[in-house]
Amino acid sequence: MRTNVVIVGAGPAGLMLGRLLDLAGIDNLILERRSAEYVLGRIRAGVLEPGSVALMERARVSGRLRAEGLVHEGAVLSFDGDSHRLDFTALVGRQVTVYGQTEVTHDLMAAREGQTIYEAENVELHDFAGKPQVTWRKDGVVHRMDCDYIAGCDGYHGVSRASVPAAVLAIFERIYPFGWLGLLVDRPPVAEELIYAHHARGFALCSQRSLSRSRYYVQVPASEKVEAWSDDRFWDELRRRLPQAAAEALRTGPSLEKSIAPLRSFVAEPLRFGRLFLAGDAAHIVPPTGAKGLNLAMSDVAMLADALIEFYAEKSAAGLEHYSARALARIWKAERFSWWMTSLMHVFPETGAFGRRIQRAEFDYLTSSTAAQQSLAENYTGLPD
Ligand code: APR
Ligand code: PHB
Repeated sequence: MRTNVVIVGAGPAGLMLGRLLDLAGIDNLILERRSAEYVLGRIRAGVLEPGSVALMERARVSGRLRAEGLVHEGAVLSFDGDSHRLDFTALVGRQVTVYGQTEVTHDLMAAREGQTIYEAENVELHDFAGKPQVTWRKDGVVHRMDCDYIAGCDGYHGVSRASVPAAVLAIFERIYPFGWLGLLVDRPPVAEELIYAHHARGFALCSQRSLSRSRYYVQVPASEKVEAWSDDRFWDELRRRLPQAAAEALRTGPSLEKSIAPLRSFVAEPLRFGRLFLAGDAAHIVPPTGAKGLNLAMSDVAMLADALIEFYAEKSAAGLEHYSARALARIWKAERFSWWMTSLMHVFPETGAFGRRIQRAEFDYLTSSTAAQQSLAENYTGLPD
């Protein structure tokens, strides 16, 4: 069997790439290790930059996003209870849209025309420097697909990056000594806009999925176990870290989901190895503070899709040759912003009282400088390619 492009992974990166290739008439196969239900059950990010919204539009899957997505014109930052609203529209003339990654995945799955094989076990990549092939096992039978290109969209723990010889792969990484404990609840959000709160006890975030469903997070040590956190303990800790008005307005309820995610900054370079390309979490991880993970996955695959479309339409490999450098330039800017916002908003045990004074000075500078606020808003709402 033969196809143009084998895509490994049916997360948002793989599904969006598959959709863009389908629309361009480029034959592709998606191989996903998990079931579709499992993929849809994962609770992930929820803030889309205008560029990601535009890509959903281009992919003709923006109907529900336009109807149900919540357009946010700003967000609130607080430090030890002092709050400041950033007005994205006034600062940079752009907004973000709150729409869960689960919904993005759902819309892309529903629109899928090409073949997707779920529960594909033991996916292996072969000869991507020459004549690429991918093999997998399904229901005990081993299958093989020959292709022109392989797109590794299989996330941080995927097989694609792991298949690249260590000698040609450069890894840049920073692991933070904490994670985010997240809770999803069917209660209206505490405020219209997101609240990012720095507190001596640690960071807290009030986010949302809809007008009736909220997502909250608190910073916890990396070693923390989710079993140690009853819902009551979570709500008590969250309230302590929020500005008073928000703490009083908080509507609590039984958790629909509760989990801990470690925080990490990670980039693999380059993104091309012969006929294998990496995109999304397979190539890079950002800490969630700047809400960049999903948006970066979207911009990677937009660039990769354009390069592949150019190759098949015009027989020009120029776009494919530039993909790695072009995507990495954008990735590193998002890595910088996510690292910076993480550094400002979290408590770092090792930096002590000096570190907190510096963070406070940064917050005070930010709230008093339109230039600094514009810089934040420009990055948060998404830099151009
Ligand atoms: N074979 C096949 N599929 C695999 C394999 C494998 N060996 N390993 C992983 N996968 C699948 C996973 O099950 C998952 O469905 O690849 C998919 C990767 O999806 P994501 O992890 O969601 O990554 P990506 O599509 O790049 O999306 C990035 O996810 O967590 C967020 O912050 C991140 O929002 C960003 C987005
Ligand atoms: C979320 O809603 O899950 C979310 C929102 C903003 C972030 C991170 C996560 O910065």
